[in-house]
Amino acid sequence: MRRFIKSCFMVILTLGVLYSFSQANDFKYVGVAKCKTCHNTKKIGKQYTVWKNSLHAKAMESLKSEKALKYAKEHKIADPSKDATCTKCHSTMASIDKSLIDPKGKLTIEEGVSCESCHGPGSVYKKRSNMIDREKAIASGLVIPTEKNCVTCHNKDNPFYKPFDFKTYSAKIAHPVPKKK
Ligand code: HEC
Ligand code: HEC
Ligand code: HEC
Ligand code: HEC
Repeated sequence: MRRFIKSCFMVILTLGVLYSFSQANDFKYVGVAKCKTCHNTKKIGKQYTVWKNSLHAKAMESLKSEKALKYAKEHKIADPSKDATCTKCHSTMASIDKSLIDPKGKLTIEEGVSCESCHGPGSVYKKRSNMIDREKAIASGLVIPTEKNCVTCHNKDNPFYKPFDFKTYSAKIAHPVPKKK
């Protein structure tokens, strides 16, 4: 009996350790406000402003447009801006598992399709020492997006689908870091 209790204890201990490891390795979503603190200077290329002026930043507003409301009515969706059928592609927050939201972050549903939808959850890579070293940043969860990433949303599940061409679409959202002289 004693041995049984001891082995049960060991199993629980092992599970506990494994659980805490899995928690420590989970990269979490922090929201665009965190990225803005560094990515809005002229020197770095004002990625925040470029994004803010793009349709991705307005994706939640589109779910309140006449076009969206008309479609919703025809398909018995009460409010497209609150229905996962639509928000899952129109907002970073609605597209992820709730457990991946960083409680110390500032992710909101209103920010729409934001940096982390394409670049991955930023809780760890956003540290300057990780950001300035591409290898370190990728090891900390940074994604350098490719076409594969875009077509998780730019596909025919979208009721207003338009043919997606990676090259022309990427050019429309380009936000490069200016070349150093
Ligand atoms: C503490 C400041 C800081 C924060 C916060 C920050 N970044 Fe960065 N980031 C940088 C710096 C500095 C670079 C390097 C720029 C350069 O190439 O000179 C960089 C580079 C990048 C790169 C390019 C990496 C590469 O190797 O091509 C991406 C993508 C990026 N950041 C995305 C983000 C996102 C998304 C967030 C928010 C989750 C974020 N950053 C938050 C400072 C920051
Ligand atoms: C999380 C889902 C999601 C991902 C990932 C995504 N997009 Fe989008 N994209 C949208 C939504 C939603 C809109 C429509 C926004 C609106 O008009 O309300 C959009 C609109 C656009 C537009 C504007 C199209 C126009 O009519 O002018 C471009 C350009 C674009 N996306 C490029 C890209 C590229 C390039 C990638 C990959 C690097 C990408 N998107 C990844 C959801 C996504
Ligand atoms: C599979 C992902 C996905 C889903 C699900 C989705 N959308 Fe979209 N939506 C997009 C993308 C991507 C675009 C941008 C398409 C483009 O311009 O190439 C878009 C664009 C739009 C636009 C702008 C269209 C225009 O031509 O002006 C509206 C409005 C819209 N969606 C409403 C909705 C509504 C309402 C729902 C739910 C019933 C919904 N979407 C579900 C991905 C999605
Ligand atoms: C719709 C997808 C998408 C969104 C949203 C997005 N990016 Fe990017 N980002 C890309 C793509 C695609 C590239 C080019 C990757 C490559 O070099 O192949 C890129 C490149 C970058 C780079 C590197 C540029 C360079 O010159 O090497 C930085 C920095 C960056 N993004 C920061 C951000 C920040 C900060 C935000 C939010 C304010 C953001 N991105 C939002 C798709 C996105």
